[in-house]
Amino acid sequence: MATALAGGVALSGCGGDDEEPAFQYGVASGDPLADRVILWTHARYPSSADPVVLRWQVAEDAGFARIVASGTVSASAATGHTAKADATGLAPGREYFYRFSAGGTRSAVGSTRTLPANATEVKLAVLSCSNYPAGFFNVYAEVARSDAQFALHLGDYIYEYDAAGFASAGAAALGRSSQPAHELLTLDDYRARHAQYKSDADSKTLHARMPMIAVWDDHEVANDAFKDGAENHDAASEGSWAARRAAALQAYHEWMPIRSGADLGRIYRSFDFGGLLSLHMLDTRLLGRDAQIDIAALAGLAGPAAQAAATAAFSSPTRQLLGSEQAAWLTAQMAASTATWQVLGQQVLTARMEFPVSVLAALNTSDTSPAAQAAGAAAVNDYLTAKATPAGLRTPAQAALMNPAQNPLLGYNLDAWDGYLAARETLLGTALQLGKKLVTLAGDTHNAWHADLSLKGLANPALAGVKVGEEFATSSVSSPGLESFLALPSAQVKAIFEGVVDDLHWMDPSQRGYLKMSFTPTQARGDWFFVDTITRRSYTASLGRTAVYTG
Ligand SMILES: [Fe+2]
Repeated sequence: MATALAGGVALSGCGGDDEEPAFQYGVASGDPLADRVILWTHARYPSSADPVVLRWQVAEDAGFARIVASGTVSASAATGHTAKADATGLAPGREYFYRFSAGGTRSAVGSTRTLPANATEVKLAVLSCSNYPAGFFNVYAEVARSDAQFALHLGDYIYEYDAAGFASAGAAALGRSSQPAHELLTLDDYRARHAQYKSDADSKTLHARMPMIAVWDDHEVANDAFKDGAENHDAASEGSWAARRAAALQAYHEWMPIRSGADLGRIYRSFDFGGLLSLHMLDTRLLGRDAQIDIAALAGLAGPAAQAAATAAFSSPTRQLLGSEQAAWLTAQMAASTATWQVLGQQVLTARMEFPVSVLAALNTSDTSPAAQAAGAAAVNDYLTAKATPAGLRTPAQAALMNPAQNPLLGYNLDAWDGYLAARETLLGTALQLGKKLVTLAGDTHNAWHADLSLKGLANPALAGVKVGEEFATSSVSSPGLESFLALPSAQVKAIFEGVVDDLHWMDPSQRGYLKMSFTPTQARGDWFFVDTITRRSYTASLGRTAVYTG
């Protein structure tokens, strides 16, 4: 009788007499180390919010004949019915299979991988900016099909806008209107949006295929976030930034296969790939970032006074992007690492994407009148002609265009490292001083880029132009890029960027895709793959560009 009663109590505490839990959002794994990996799922009873006690198993084989680790974890309302386990005691550099179960119900089987103890090659799929209403996640499907071993997501894993917001024009026709329909503010809002993204079939396929190492960018909370707020946050109508940030971060940690510590705001962390590369995942967004400079507030760039003010504002030695604590941590991590490659996995472009003021002041992307377009084209043409002319043959006007004292070089994307010059000089100068082979990975722009990382010589003019490493930046999974808001044809945009920006080797202005990075002891190789559509489920993918950096 007592046994029967206990059994009955236990049953009613598990969602009803005959209910089996549902695994609606698949499985995921992430943050692999040499001996462990985070396993993730979501489970709940159809008609009850009772906790679901889950058993997890890790096996060497897909049939689960050789189980090497197991345990239990609870998916409860306190975590939005998500559950994570850190599966430890694993062997380095090998593939494993995992699953969750409750009662007689099993989740899908996922495959994952530990970090190698020794490696001669590591292949990473670098992703950013997966925007559900903008289109299908064909890029996720393509990565799942690739030979990449690990996925890196550099942020904008979700977007916070309402159903009529950014990139939503075609959403209804695609059956991908944002849920909830309003802009995200509360914990329930952020949870519901994460759930919608994780309901995507291609997202499930990718997560079940390989471990993901992720960091957030701004849209996991709100557009153009910094340490004290965001462009898309109005405290008067939307409440405190701290509360919104806390809600967004809690949901992120619940829904992402990330190894969460006590401080949910601290996500910078390193991964050691067997001495071949040290991957340092950074937070350039929420922790230490000072507010972005508003270029409009500099009263345009016409005239030396405005140019000097802009240069001074950009170069302020106190402006921070990582914050002093994270920057000191990164220096210590790079100094202590004996790996061949130091790789920064982070959100925003690090390279100097600088334009001369003569071009910046003339290029007006919002004015599509023939006169404005002609003025911009003339400024670009004058500059490119001067640049192509040998120094000794330049006219006085051309010499002035090429003299940075008279025609200063300034960044145009002040949300990127270009708006934090002193902090970038410190970062790149540190890598140079430590004698490290540096590769930066970036997302955020929705376009693909390959560029040198060079010093500007802010503190020491003798170092101006010294190359420190290379940047490989991925396009978006689905968010629209430059082609959606520049009036110019893509071929022209590409020609202007590649011609004007000194450190830029190559860029793609219009395609969605991912970046596969292959590291060996002698080279860091980037392969940019693009898909031909995100508005149909069937697509074809192709290799758009390969670049090799030997350090
Ligand atoms: Fe984005």
